[in-house]
Amino acid sequence: MSATVVLIGAAPMAEGYLRAAERLGLRVGLVETADRAAALRGRYDCVVDTAEVDPALAGRDDGWIRPTDALVRRLRPDGVLASSEIHVLAGAMAQEQHRLPGPGLDAAAVSRDKAQQRFRFAAAGLAQPEHLKVPRLSAATDWASARLPVVVKPLNRAGSDGVERIGSPAEWSDAVRRREAEGQLLVEEYVEGQEYSWEGLVADGRVCFGSLTRKLTTGAPDFVELAHFSGHERVDPGLGRAADALGQAVADAIRMRTGIMFVEFRTRGDDLVIMEVAVRAPGDHCMDAMSIAYGVDLFGEVLNLAVGSAFRPAPELEPRYSGSCFLVADRPGVLESAGETEWAAWPGVVRSGVDARPGTPVGPPRSSADRLGWALLDCPDPAELTRLVHRLRSVRPVLAR
Ligand SMILES: Nc1ncnc2c1ncn2[C@@H]1O[C@H](COP(=O)(O)OP(=O)(O)O)[C@@H](O)[C@H]1O
Ligand SMILES: [Mg+2]
Repeated sequence: MSATVVLIGAAPMAEGYLRAAERLGLRVGLVETADRAAALRGRYDCVVDTAEVDPALAGRDDGWIRPTDALVRRLRPDGVLASSEIHVLAGAMAQEQHRLPGPGLDAAAVSRDKAQQRFRFAAAGLAQPEHLKVPRLSAATDWASARLPVVVKPLNRAGSDGVERIGSPAEWSDAVRRREAEGQLLVEEYVEGQEYSWEGLVADGRVCFGSLTRKLTTGAPDFVELAHFSGHERVDPGLGRAADALGQAVADAIRMRTGIMFVEFRTRGDDLVIMEVAVRAPGDHCMDAMSIAYGVDLFGEVLNLAVGSAFRPAPELEPRYSGSCFLVADRPGVLESAGETEWAAWPGVVRSGVDARPGTPVGPPRSSADRLGWALLDCPDPAELTRLVHRLRSVRPVLAR
């Protein structure tokens, strides 16, 4: 009989799990909102059962816990898998209760709280920014004034939402005015440096696959991610080895057990300075890009780990240089066209999509949600990938006057 897995959440970026489940012959129980579950059930035969999440609670961790618990009791699956950050806690609770493979409750709780991450990394002696957790922003005024520029960030949001760089005393006062009511925040030393992520598969606490991704962001003040270059350890093997060592050290520090995780860091001299860790798949089409780079279906490998199968390294193929790139507006306006009929057909663009409809007010991005479109890229060499990203970065969406 085929194995059954409960998948918590299946936003468009996580549909790779459903495609992989079909290919692997897995049965999937899906925890989603009623509308989304119905739509996916119609498209994927592997979905055998669903549990509904109240749309009003879908943005909260606890909105996913009860429906996950109900579906796991009903299906008695071989594995439970959390697709994105908001699902990590529900997943770990079900895995723990039913003795199924997963990151572990400890790692899941740390993934959900950036301040807990800072305490763990400090205890493990890992390089990270100086930081202060405060009950409200004004409580950090003296600390921040002595260290400007600093970064202010929420404890548990994602996609650079609410993350901002504060450069001057005037900007600090303005941030306090805007954000005092937000409650707890983390304030960090600003770390200059190229940004990377390390993605890894972990089985029983040991890293069995590691990968390095180079990032391009909008920079200060909002750091919205614009492009990801997968398989970067082939371009910089020394950094790749250092990132693999960091990945294992972070897995140890947060007591990660089994599954996929990623660590974001910036380089400062020889130090890899940690920005954050999460015990779930990265977004931004990075899973698809990495799957191209390594010639494996990483979604399938994560499903295999979730149902207790061992990771099988793929045979070495001709390396591909892959990544993802995002289209953004360079000025405020009303979107007329993202111009995708042109750039979607360029050589090297293997898949693409437009997220903003014509008529939408748009502007320079403040968070990932403000990006207009995306492209998944596949090139035979790194120089070509760089050229393609530059070319896509020069696309200007058509805005109404
Ligand atoms: N201390 C810092 N120094 C420099 N840049 C930072 C710092 N913290 C965050 N950033 C920038 O902001 C981005 C988003 O912050 P991050 O902690 O990764 O939160 P999120 O969960 O929103 O991705 C990072 O990718 C990085 O570019
Ligand atoms: Mg991040």
